[in-house]
Amino acid sequence: MAPRIEAPEFRLTKTDVVKKVEDILAPLKLSEEVQKRIREVYDEEMRIGLARNPSRKSCLQMENTYLPELPNGTEEGEYLALDLGGTNFRVILLQLEKGRVVSDEVQHYFVPEPLRVGPGSELFDFLAACIYDFLETRSKLDHKLPLGFTFSFPMTQQDLNVGILVSWTKSFNCPGVVGEDAVKMLNEAIQRRGDLEVEVVAVLNDTTGTLVQGAFLDRKCAIGLIIGTGSNACYIERVDRVEKWEGTHGDIKEVVVDIEWGAFGDNGVLDFMKTEYDQMLDKNSLLVGSFTFEKLFSGKYLGELTRLVLVKLAEEGLMFGGKIPSQLLRPGSFPTRFVSLVEQDAVLKLARPVSSESCFHELGIEHGSDDLKILQQVCFAVTERAAILLAICLSATLMRVDREECTIAVDGSLYKYHPRLHHLLEHYIIKMTPGKKLPSKLPEHGAVVRNKQVFQTQMSREPLIVTN
Ligand code: GLC
Repeated sequence: MAPRIEAPEFRLTKTDVVKKVEDILAPLKLSEEVQKRIREVYDEEMRIGLARNPSRKSCLQMENTYLPELPNGTEEGEYLALDLGGTNFRVILLQLEKGRVVSDEVQHYFVPEPLRVGPGSELFDFLAACIYDFLETRSKLDHKLPLGFTFSFPMTQQDLNVGILVSWTKSFNCPGVVGEDAVKMLNEAIQRRGDLEVEVVAVLNDTTGTLVQGAFLDRKCAIGLIIGTGSNACYIERVDRVEKWEGTHGDIKEVVVDIEWGAFGDNGVLDFMKTEYDQMLDKNSLLVGSFTFEKLFSGKYLGELTRLVLVKLAEEGLMFGGKIPSQLLRPGSFPTRFVSLVEQDAVLKLARPVSSESCFHELGIEHGSDDLKILQQVCFAVTERAAILLAICLSATLMRVDREECTIAVDGSLYKYHPRLHHLLEHYIIKMTPGKKLPSKLPEHGAVVRNKQVFQTQMSREPLIVTN
């Protein structure tokens, strides 16, 4: 019998481990050159996205929202607002006086998975049922209320109250809605019930809604940014630069453009920077091949990206004593809130990384102290890349805004709950828009860049979307 050959026991020395971990994380680091290329590609896609007869289609939709102007301080009365985009659907009753929100009542309704991927008409029937419940509880069923519908998906807007769904994103994929007008589908569901007096007067993307709310607070607001389950931005563009706007626009000088940057890279222009983890993540996602940029960092994906890197490290024998914990092999088992928790340890600099420990504990994964350090390194790397990617597109967008001063209204669960993202974003935006001095006084939670302010609006006291 041939002698049994034992596999040599392979023990990595500490320096080996450090070096190998660095090698595995290296593809997530964006060199200056790669950053420059992403910026150039983004600028070009923006330009093509606004052009009248481009030689090819841009991956950036650059959608004309037909929102010509922001609130001017004269808005009065009672309005109903709906917000659909994540797993929580919100119904909000707003009371406006001289353009100011004097009161708002919000109710959240969980949208179960079967509705998120089932027939579209059932989803809209559910939305109408929530409106009924909301108004009935407040004895307002007989009030004739104008309704603003925040529909946080890519739409083709043919008017303020027409929004044709271009594609589903995030965790929605209901047949029968792509190519249809979301307002019409909602109105039909309302009519099917026959017991509601509301009328849908406007459909908005969440970035636009954020910009409008930001403008209520600060007249200089010209960019609306969402860093949540998904990510996207809108900004105020000069009408003469929106070449593709063929209809008459009278004396309108500016219009809000919804960039839909989540889809940046869907035509392959970002392939040069995608890592094996990004490719794997896309392959296992609900909508393969779409929303490339969003999948690189947004709240729905950041945890999953981290999980894939951890699995790779475990496979290479660099973590968990060379065993791959079965819990980590389950897609979605490492939610984005864990990344925020781990990052919290880095911020608090406690002697014991209690938050990181709690993540492994929740997963039931045995670990050593080096595993915690490596976990922190991974979370650091994915966070850093997220901030750089966002800052690249945000600085480019800031440069397009034709204003001396510009405030950015930001919303979204990842932005709110990640303990470092805000500061990193600020840091990189400053770096990427050089040559300007910072004023001595910064707004709270904010920075001023090229005389352009970045700040977090305090408008939503509760998360719009609960990440994972
Ligand atoms: C997705 C949607 C976009 C939305 C963003 C943030 O990217 O396509 O419309 O603004 O998520 O919710």
